[in-house]
Amino acid sequence: MSTQENKMEAIVSLAKRRGFIYPGSDIYGGLSGTWDYGPLGVTLKRNIMQLWWRMFVEERDDMYGVDAAILMNQKVWQASGHVDTFTDPLVEDLETKQRFRADHLLKDAGVEVDGLSLDDMSRVIKERGIKSPNGNELSEVRTFNMMFKTTVGPVANDDSISYLRPETAQGIFTNYKNIVDSFYPNLPFGVAQQGKAFRNEISPRDFIFRSREFEQMEIEYFVDPSHWEESFEHWRQQVWRWTQALGLADEAVHELEVPENDRAHYSKRTIDFEFDFPIGREELLGLAYRTDFDLMNIQNKSGKSMDYTIKGTNTKFVPHVIEPSFGVERAVMAVLSSAYTEDEINGESRVVLKLPAHLAPVKVAISPLVRNKPELVERAREIYERFKKAHGAVMWDDNGNIGKRYRRQDEIGTPYCVVVDFQTLEDGTVTVRDRDTTEQRRLSVDDVLSL
Ligand code: GAP
Repeated sequence: MSTQENKMEAIVSLAKRRGFIYPGSDIYGGLSGTWDYGPLGVTLKRNIMQLWWRMFVEERDDMYGVDAAILMNQKVWQASGHVDTFTDPLVEDLETKQRFRADHLLKDAGVEVDGLSLDDMSRVIKERGIKSPNGNELSEVRTFNMMFKTTVGPVANDDSISYLRPETAQGIFTNYKNIVDSFYPNLPFGVAQQGKAFRNEISPRDFIFRSREFEQMEIEYFVDPSHWEESFEHWRQQVWRWTQALGLADEAVHELEVPENDRAHYSKRTIDFEFDFPIGREELLGLAYRTDFDLMNIQNKSGKSMDYTIKGTNTKFVPHVIEPSFGVERAVMAVLSSAYTEDEINGESRVVLKLPAHLAPVKVAISPLVRNKPELVERAREIYERFKKAHGAVMWDDNGNIGKRYRRQDEIGTPYCVVVDFQTLEDGTVTVRDRDTTEQRRLSVDDVLSL
């Protein structure tokens, strides 16, 4: 493989061929920015999401989970600032009327875009003679709101407008008071949510990296404002624990302190955690200090107090918030990119996904050595049933010869292949092949099960 671009293409093609991720609505020519998870992809994605929930909700005693509705009262998005400011800079190809992200075109032309206003961008495009990817003149740069708008109920008017949520965070903020009233937790405490988010990206691209429909895993961690820095540092360390749990090499993960004029409208400090994707170094997830921006906006808009009273005192204040925000698609793409390997075994080249075993969609594949010996197949089936009961994520594979089965399982990242052969009938042992070393060992079925 010569370039990172080839690696990306190879991953996209493997993802489709082997049932991880398909382009959305593919049968009708697709729908840009949407992707469907196939049988292996949905398991990989769920393994990632469950790992996150276990690490950040179940294993802690300061965390509460919620699952809020995707459709919310439009006041949520007015109060949060998204109606006014959740925009990207857009330019139009004056010939084809195609639209592009102005900052992307500028970056592609080698222009440093940090801190540029819309007018600045328009000026630089003119000065540098930057054209659309079709080679045509471009319009002035203007803003484009990325929220998907819809109407709720049978009457479409201003009052029935709603939006598909562009972040899961607001479903947490709007439930902050409910959680304080039901559980009265000590500060600091966090509320976590996983779920879909939607953004009408001007130019979705780079596989699942920039999608129009994707999933987020977000935590709003409510703190005493005088201690925000401690909590920020705590979550910075937790993010590193997370990237390690995904099996990402520390050297491939980078912190980027986001300068003030580049931060989201609500943030006083942001660190973007970037990853060396095959498409380049890009944002994997973000950690932001959202201050009391959201709770104060809710308090002002709803007229309801967002005060937290320190137990046993009269001290009241609106808590501040540290927000680690994780994108599921970017985690999936980072895991696939870091696992994708082409190597050579005994002079034969192979593709292998070196997924961490706890994330692999299939943990073990069980095969009878040959298909035409009923007693062998029957014994292999029994063993398969035992594994399936114990581990769930087990695949029956009796297609083609053993070499082909190993290649197929390598490509989907199955850590172990178990083969039932004639010796199994005599002494109950099976061969177990390790995906990464390709070494084979003979073990009893019980030993493999406990492995
Ligand atoms: N609540 C804060 C928030 O939404 P963000 O930086 O806009 O912050 C958080 O998004 C994370 O969501 C990103 O770091 C990324 O992982 C993921 N994300 C954002 N837009 C995305 C898109 N169009 N496609 C896939 N993932 C996206």
